[in-house]
Amino acid sequence: MNESRRQFLTAGSVTCSAAWLAAGVRGARSFAGEPASPKGSRADIELTLRAAPGRVSVNGKPTQVWRFEGHLDAGPSDALTASEGYLGPIIRARPGQRIVVRFQNHLDEPSIVHWHGLDVSAENDGHPRLAVPGGGTYAYDFRIANRPGTYWYHPHAHQRTGAQVHAGLAGLLIVEDDQAKGNLPSGANDLPFVLQDRQIDSNGQFIYNPNAMTGFLGDLILVNGKPTPTFNVKAGTYRLRLLNGSNARIYKLGWSDGSAMVVIGSDGGLLEAPVRKPYVMLAPGERVEIWADFGKAPVGPDVWLESRSFAGGTGGMMGMMGMSGGMGRGMGRGMGMGMGMAGTSGGPPNGSRFRVCRFVVTGTGERLPLPRTLSRLQFRSDREVVNLGSPRRFDVTMAMMRWTLNGRTFGMDDLAPNERIRKGTTEDWEFSNLVGMMAMPHPIHIHGGQFQIVDRAVAPGAGPAVDSVREGRVEEGWKDTFLLMPGERVRVRVRFEHHAGLFLYHCHNLEHEDMGMMRNFRVEV
Ligand code: C2O
Ligand code: CU
Ligand code: CU
Repeated sequence: MNESRRQFLTAGSVTCSAAWLAAGVRGARSFAGEPASPKGSRADIELTLRAAPGRVSVNGKPTQVWRFEGHLDAGPSDALTASEGYLGPIIRARPGQRIVVRFQNHLDEPSIVHWHGLDVSAENDGHPRLAVPGGGTYAYDFRIANRPGTYWYHPHAHQRTGAQVHAGLAGLLIVEDDQAKGNLPSGANDLPFVLQDRQIDSNGQFIYNPNAMTGFLGDLILVNGKPTPTFNVKAGTYRLRLLNGSNARIYKLGWSDGSAMVVIGSDGGLLEAPVRKPYVMLAPGERVEIWADFGKAPVGPDVWLESRSFAGGTGGMMGMMGMSGGMGRGMGRGMGMGMGMAGTSGGPPNGSRFRVCRFVVTGTGERLPLPRTLSRLQFRSDREVVNLGSPRRFDVTMAMMRWTLNGRTFGMDDLAPNERIRKGTTEDWEFSNLVGMMAMPHPIHIHGGQFQIVDRAVAPGAGPAVDSVREGRVEEGWKDTFLLMPGERVRVRVRFEHHAGLFLYHCHNLEHEDMGMMRNFRVEV
């Protein structure tokens, strides 16, 4: 794209941004001047979502970003609310609602939007083969078949997912209904936390310098686009919805006062009942919902959400280098992790310890009792599994210094014999990460809906890495992404019920994904 067109687009996005970013601005017409919806449409929510260059303040200076800007064309005013920083607007929908999204690509490269965690048809899933060029549009039309929960959206362009998400393209999609909301903190006590890491140069610009093995690891932790922020809260109960929207960074989240993390939800919505864990692992793509009572635990007035150290965070040689450095100790407030890692670009390795954000507690707030039960989960029983005891196997492998799955990299239409599954059948799939010394953690994500985790096993010798994260796993609820540690074998139970077609499974370390640690599978009737 030439310079004048770039400026035009940038200027255009500035001109429109006031109207676009304002929450709940409703217009009968989209900005392009076309009617927002075809006559006779019965969608519950209609919106225009565009990916465009923009400029925001991250740590003082204006930072060039790419961001999603949304415009609500029809639907309730709370269906779209502006986010902080560069993040896309929060989309709020209810189970069963039909949503029409007109995506407009104002970047100078192909892009497409994926609705992470949602059970939508292949045409609505944002497969890279559906990417539209700069200036192009893509029309989505789907129904919310998911349970209430915290989902998200991000680009899924061929070999550019990491760069586009890193540039700022990501947003939350929250599915809620009154019943699920009923006895949980809501409104100002229901807070989203999008965790990301970045590196910023002295001019305030994001540096994208991913490492070929580990992916992009920044030295500055951002929550909702702000560096290690402080949240002012009341001594009351809160529902914290945490998304790891980082490209490659894995968090081991705990409270600085040593309180347990009270977990109420996972990728696919509420658990059956709250569970207490000393810390919670959150790998890229995963979500977790935490109950916090700032009058009791964690107790104020000054408490941090921190990420603790764990083993096995980096593969092979780099792991050893990383472990010897004592990274991240004594990090200054608001300064992220301080030191970079000599010899590699970017921030400290996975498994380093750092602070995420601070909570300052003032005044008393609304307090709700922690419910004893949260929701009903209907997991798939052994009896319905067609391959019980002999799961479909997917091994993490390495070929030509790239991470692969069963020895294969991504090909746009590639399908191996073991990548075809019958619609409506329940199967066990087993992922193993047994590449020895070089092994590193991989967050594995499967498109097409939610699954349950049925089993984990550890290879001899892989104990320390797995032991250092074990108690932080949230596997009591529905999942669409799980952390596969070095030396681990994880069995999940899947069923693709509603839609036939081509879907993806991949590592959600976005650089691994972009380098080919992704494959198609086809749901067949
Ligand atoms: Cu969140 Cu295929 O991705
Ligand atoms: Cu996804
Ligand atoms: Cu990976």
